[in-house]
Order: sequence, then structure tokens, then C-alpha cells
Amino acid sequence: MKSKVIILDTTLRDGEQALQASLSAKEKLRIALSLEKCGIDIIEAGFPISSPGDFKSVQAISRKIKNSKICSLARCLEKDIDIAGQAISASNNSRIHIFLATSTLHITSKLRKNFDEIIEMAIFSVKKALRYTNDVQFSCEDASRTTIDNLCRIVEKLIKSGVKTINIPDTVGYTIPNEICSIINQLFERVPNIHKAVISVHCHDDLGMAVGNSISAIQSGARQIEGTINGIGERAGNTALEEIIMAIKVREDILKVSTNIVHKEIYRTSKIVSQICNMPIPSNKAIVGSNAFAHSSGIHQDGVLKNRQNYEIMDPSSIGLKDVKLNLTSRSGRAAVKYYMDEMGYKKNDYNIDDLYAAFLKLADKKGQVFDYDLEALAFMNQQQEESDYFLLKFFSVQSISNGLSTASVKLLCGNKTYTESATTRNGPVDAIYQAINRITHFPIVLQKFQLVAKGRGKDALGQVDILVEYNNRKFHGIGLATDIIESSAQAMINILNIIWKLQQINKKLRK
Ligand code: KIV
Ligand code: ZN
Repeated sequence: MKSKVIILDTTLRDGEQALQASLSAKEKLRIALSLEKCGIDIIEAGFPISSPGDFKSVQAISRKIKNSKICSLARCLEKDIDIAGQAISASNNSRIHIFLATSTLHITSKLRKNFDEIIEMAIFSVKKALRYTNDVQFSCEDASRTTIDNLCRIVEKLIKSGVKTINIPDTVGYTIPNEICSIINQLFERVPNIHKAVISVHCHDDLGMAVGNSISAIQSGARQIEGTINGIGERAGNTALEEIIMAIKVREDILKVSTNIVHKEIYRTSKIVSQICNMPIPSNKAIVGSNAFAHSSGIHQDGVLKNRQNYEIMDPSSIGLKDVKLNLTSRSGRAAVKYYMDEMGYKKNDYNIDDLYAAFLKLADKKGQVFDYDLEALAFMNQQQEESDYFLLKFFSVQSISNGLSTASVKLLCGNKTYTESATTRNGPVDAIYQAINRITHFPIVLQKFQLVAKGRGKDALGQVDILVEYNNRKFHGIGLATDIIESSAQAMINILNIIWKLQQINKKLRK
């Protein structure tokens, strides 16, 4: 029988820590639900000591997710481990992941300790973590730059103290396939109790070798791979899970291992992560890029038409990519919308059909024809909008004149009151509408990044605006989607105002 490779996803921890604006608890839960549906064995849900928000998200994910193990990260510090243990207490399938640097460089210049002290701290922390769960993972941070003698020494002691998974991180993305292969081989040869633990690798992509290094580690006997969806993460990112998973499937003949992944969920999960994290997928990205299955040259097109296998090593439908290209109009019924959502792989609980249908009709009236990618974008936007949103855009108008002046008027519903304001600027219509909104809400927001992308194809694509703002030293990310780019810009700002308003209500309750 083929042996299994366990997949640990750290999109919500290592991936999230590299985002410009942190994700809300609701966004993290949506990602966790997609990961669960995709068959991910272990979801590293966060680093609970890092913020009360992270603690709450790990707690919420632990309550909701039933089919994946929930993992919580901690340093070798008592308070970290206590908080990590409390955050996962609602789950009956949980893991605490503790880490400590083991390379001479890190322990002398960062921790100012000697190796005996490192071993002592590590063992003490493992014992503490075992009070919360019997599944403890230990990461020897910067393992790829740790001397092999020290690595073997600490790994043996960790396994003896009850660690079930030993993770070998290439923290700075420094190793190469032959080297990681040799590190894992030596652990298997020199650590007498090594077979009592699962060996894991966690590779960063600084030299573009994270996936290659992970594959090499599997060939040497590693049976857990850590990574993130779309490879998001610190600096150049982490091992891209969709790549490693498909490499294992496509090259099963050589690797002789398998995973528990539901491959048909890969494409959808990748899109959800990209959308929620505001991290566009490069078109040439392996597996999930928009060109990954496109054939451009005449010779390739001819070859594919004669036999797909001439130039295709995997079937796009195996990752859930279907060429649906529907064409709905305002005369299409709710059943047609539901049918095409099913065809694209969305389940009943992924969206609210009433809200989606209402949004679809509005769009169909404006655009005439609605395509599969429009429906997908609408479903996503409906999920983002909360029923209890405080601010709602009721009306707007903008006028831009060739002398450089732009004027915008907005009518905003704030709770149950409506306010109207206008503003004129020399910085274009988006600035004018933002100023008009600000005259109503008075939030001291500083716009840091504005990004407009076309969702869909052709001249009637939807415009998605992603903005990043700073408010009271915190960063917030907002999204707006509409056929009119001024409306999407306004919606993106209102999305952020609603998040801030909700946070203020939570803080008020906490202070009472
Ligand atoms: O890159 C790293 O070393 C880590 C550890 C916490 C596993 O992310
Ligand atoms: Zn990492």
C-alpha cells in the first residue's frame, strides 16, 4: 500500500503573517472551511498569543471545523503555550506546534543562549504542551542551517519527551534538494527513536526551491509537508500546496505516496484564498494560474487537438477547473443560476441563493449577459457583505470636467439615518467620492493602496477595487465590485467603514 503524506496548511498562520492587512475572523473561518472541504489533514489556524483577534479566530475555527485537525502555534514560552492550549480547547482533534531556533547563528545572535539551554527550554515546553493535547509538534527553526550533530541530538530528546511530529523548517529558503535529502537521511540513520515520530518539512521559497525541496524530503522519508495555498507567505512565500499535491498525484509512479486531498477542490480553494487575501495569482503560476492549461503556439495547439496528452500532463478538470462559460440574461430564473453554481463546483451552503439571485438580476439589467465568472464574483461579494452592515450606499453621482475638477455627491444610510454630502477636488472622481463619504463618517482614514482589476472579460467586465487604508495605526483591506468603477471604489471604502464600525462596537462592549 502507498504511504500517506500528511498535508499541513499554514495559510492562516505563515501565509497571513505576510499580508498587508490582517484577515477578519470571518474571513479566516471561510478559508478554514474551504481547506476542510479540500481534505487538508491539519489546518494551522494561527498564533494565538500574537493578538486577541488571532486567539478568537483560532477558537472559532476550533469550534467549527470537524474533519481537519486544528493546530495552534506557540513559542517555547509558558504563556504562549497556555494561550495556544486554550484557543484549541473546543476541538477534539487538535495539535500544539511549538518552535525554537536551533542553528548556532540564531541561538547565539538572536536568543543569546547555548545549545544545552535550548534543549532544556524545548523539553520543558513539550511537557507543558502535553498537558493540553497529546499531539505535540516541534519545529527546529532554521533547521537547514543547524549542524547535523545538534539536530540529531535535539530530535532524539524531543521524541523521547513525547513529540509526535518533528518539523525541519528551511526557515530562510536556503537549502537545495540534495542537501535537504541528506539532512532527512541522516536523521533516519542517526536518531535511534526516529521511527516513533513523523518527519515533516516546512520550506520557504527564497531561492524558488520550496516545492523541489519538499519533494526531495518526501523521497527521503518525510511524511508531512507544510505549505500554503498559492504559496503565500513570508518574503518569497512558502511551499505552494497545490503544486506539491499535484506533483504527488501526477508523479505517483516515482514518489509512491498519496494524500487525502480532494483534488477537485483545489482550484476553488486557490481562488477563495487569492480573493480573500487580496493576492492575485500570476497568470503563469503552476496548477492554478489562468495560463496553466492554455496552449498558445500553433504547434502545441495542433498537438493538443490531436491528443491532449501530447502537451498536457494533467486534466484541468482534475483540479476542479471546468470550462462552463454560461450566458445568462435577466430572463434566466433562479434554477439556472443555481444550476451553473453547481456546475462550477459551489455547494448550497457556499452562498445564499436569494441574495445571489437578487444581485444577479441587478447585474443582468446593467450588462445584458452574465457569465460564470460574474456569478462567482457576485457570490463572493455577497459573502463579504454582512446583513448588519451599518453604512450603505444609497445613491451617488460624479462629474469630472476637463479643467481637472471632479465633484461627487453621495447619499449614505448610517444605521437608520440618511445623510447626503458632496465634495470637489482636483484629484479625480475617486478622491471626490472618498472625500464626500468622509464628510459624513469623519473616520480619520489614510488611503495607502488602490488597485483596480477587471473581473471577467471584455468591455463589460466587472471592476473590482481593492484598497488598503490605515486607521489608528492599523491596516484594513476593503473590496468593492460593480460594473461602474466609481461605485466599486465607493463600495470598497464602505466595506472598510463597516469593519471599523463593527470593531468599535466590540471594543465598546468589552470596555463596559
Ligand atoms: O519558517 C519557519 O521556521 C516557521 C516555523 C514557525 C515553523 O514558520
Ligand atoms: Zn515559515
